[in-house]
Amino acid sequence: MSRPDKADLRVYPNLKALSQAVAESVVELAKAAVEQSGRFTIALSGGKTPRRLYGLLARKHRRQVPWDKVQVFWGDERYVPPDDPRSDYRMARKMLLDRVPIPEGNMHPMPTLFPRPEHAAEAYQATLRAHFPGRWPRFDLILLGLGVDGHTASLFPNNPALDEKSRWVVAVDAEEADPPVRLTLTLPAINHAKNIYFVAAGKDKAPALQHALAAGPDPRAAPASAVAPVDGRLIWWVDRPAAR
Ligand code: 6PG
Repeated sequence: MSRPDKADLRVYPNLKALSQAVAESVVELAKAAVEQSGRFTIALSGGKTPRRLYGLLARKHRRQVPWDKVQVFWGDERYVPPDDPRSDYRMARKMLLDRVPIPEGNMHPMPTLFPRPEHAAEAYQATLRAHFPGRWPRFDLILLGLGVDGHTASLFPNNPALDEKSRWVVAVDAEEADPPVRLTLTLPAINHAKNIYFVAAGKDKAPALQHALAAGPDPRAAPASAVAPVDGRLIWWVDRPAAR
């Protein structure tokens, strides 16, 4: 796991400017990936921060993305039905996917209706393997958020999921989270992506951002600090309040 001595940190005045910059970069990545390999594989993040970004991709940049060549996955998911207001899938559909001409078969939500979340994780790993033939999935882009506690995707501090070394997807039980049961990509699955974009905004994220960028990775206390692409690019896209 390589960790550059200096993070690629890009600071914008506010969430609006930040979202615009990320949207433009995502469009460029999508075009380049489709040009190079005929597809663009992206794992979306949930929460509130990316909503504005998704809205820009759905409206302002709608025509710039070859949606029929985009394969959409998720980096994590709350273990709730897809129509539950807490569902990351539901949010992405509303803010982006229902508003662009992406084929239904190009969207690969994490399944959340298995009686046991462990089985859902296994099923999603099989879905990923069908799209990524190698030892690890190699997403063109993974979008990640940052929790105030330093979590990212659904990798929470001191959670056993942080120790996973071979599976791509695991079920998580994080009692501090709402809802506590989640599915998430594992750190090695994330770290094999070609591009990893953290998008974080707001002054409440400043301590977690500082901890994530501090010298050595501190996976247990700050899971986001353990995100370090094996052979790829990591960019931290933040607004000024978060960078303070
Ligand atoms: C989720 C996300 C999670 C999120 C952070 C930040 O399912 O909630 O994947 O990792 O990115 O919690 O959330 P906000 O953007 O709402 O602050």
